[in-house]
Amino acid sequence: MSENVIEARDIVVRFYVSAGLFRRKPFNAVDGVSLAIRKGSIVGLVGESGSGKTTFGKVTLDLLRPHKGDVLFRGKSIYNMTSQEYREYRINAQYIPQDPYASINMFRKVGEALLDIARYHKLDQRYGVDIMDIVRDIMIRVGLSPPEKYINKYPFQLSGGERQRLSIARALILRPAYVVADEPTTMLDASLKANIVKTIRDMVKEFGLSLLYITHEITLLQYFGPETEVAVMYLGKIVEKGTVKDILLDPIHPYTKALLAAIPVPDPKERYTRKVLLKGSIPSPLNRPSGCVLSDRCPFAEAICKKEPPQLKVVSPGREVACHLFS
Ligand SMILES: Nc1ncnc2c1ncn2[C@@H]1O[C@H](COP(=O)(O)OP(=O)(O)O)[C@@H](O)[C@H]1O
Ligand code: SF4
Ligand SMILES: [Mg+2]
Repeated sequence: MSENVIEARDIVVRFYVSAGLFRRKPFNAVDGVSLAIRKGSIVGLVGESGSGKTTFGKVTLDLLRPHKGDVLFRGKSIYNMTSQEYREYRINAQYIPQDPYASINMFRKVGEALLDIARYHKLDQRYGVDIMDIVRDIMIRVGLSPPEKYINKYPFQLSGGERQRLSIARALILRPAYVVADEPTTMLDASLKANIVKTIRDMVKEFGLSLLYITHEITLLQYFGPETEVAVMYLGKIVEKGTVKDILLDPIHPYTKALLAAIPVPDPKERYTRKVLLKGSIPSPLNRPSGCVLSDRCPFAEAICKKEPPQLKVVSPGREVACHLFS
C-alpha cells in the first residue's frame, strides 16, 4: 500500500466561458498540478482568489472530473476502482466547505443532521457503540460542547463559528482518511479563525488523517507547525513548494514574495526585504500570459519568461520553484 493517501498527477481542469454570442472560450482553471499528501500529514494550498484552489480540491474528492490527469487514493486510481473500492474512497474523502450555509440543511437540528449521517453509514455497527454516543463524541471533539446545549438547535440558531464546527463534525464523524478544508474560516471574525484552525489541527493529529487545507491567508498555516508543507498556487499552477517556515521566512518565487509583501509585518527591516511588487492585479485566467504565468506582472521577467513556461524544479531538499531565475 502506498504511503500517499492522496496523489494528484498532472491535473488539468478546463472550463468554458461565454465570449460573446455563440462563442465559448476555454481556459485551464487548473493547469498541470501534481500534489501528494502522505498519511497523517497536512498540506496547505495557498493562493489568491481565482487561482484554482477549490477546483483542484474538488478534483481530489471526485466532485469534479479533470480534463486530464489522475487521482490516486492509497495508490489506486479513483477512475479505475471497483464499486466497493470507490465506495470506500468516497467515505474516506470528505469536504469541509467555505460556506456552511451551502451544504447544511437549515431545518434539520444539529443532533438529527449528525444522526442521519451516522445511521446512513451504520457507524454503530462499524464501531460497535451506541449511535448517540458517536454523535455526542464528535460534537465534543469539534467544540459543540456540552452536546446537550446544541443537539436540539437548528443551524440558523448557531453562531457562524458554531455552524462551521457543525460542518467539521459532519465531515469528520465518518473518520475519513482524507479531508479537504476549503477556506473554512473565511466567513468568520479574526478572533474565531485561530480557534477553528486549531480544532481542525487537533483532530487531524488525533485521527491520523491527511488534510489539504486551502486558504488565501498564508499566515493561518502557521498554526499547523513550521514544518507543514505548503504549495503556492497562481493562475492554475503551483509556483512554489516548501515548508511553512521556508515560505514565510525565505520565499523564493517572485509571486510568493509579492504575496508576503502584502502582509503587514511589525519589523521594518523585514518589510524592506519582502518588498516585491507586481504590476497590475491578477488577470482573468482567460488572459493567462504565454510562457510563465507571472510574466506580465513580474519585475524580473526576461525574454525567456514570455516564451517558455518554467517547470517546478527542486532547488534544495523539500523545496521546489517554477521560475527561470532558478533553473
Ligand atoms: N464551474 C465553473 N465554470 C467556469 N469557470 C469556473 C467554474 N468554477 C470555477 N471557475 C473559474 O475557475 C477559476 C478558478 O476558480 P476556483 O477554483 O474557485 O479558485 P479559488 O478557489 O482559488 O478562488 C476562476 O477563474 C473561476 O472563476
Ligand atoms: S519565470 Fe520569469 S516571469 Fe516568471 S516568476 Fe520567474 S522571473 Fe518572473
Ligand atoms: Mg475557492
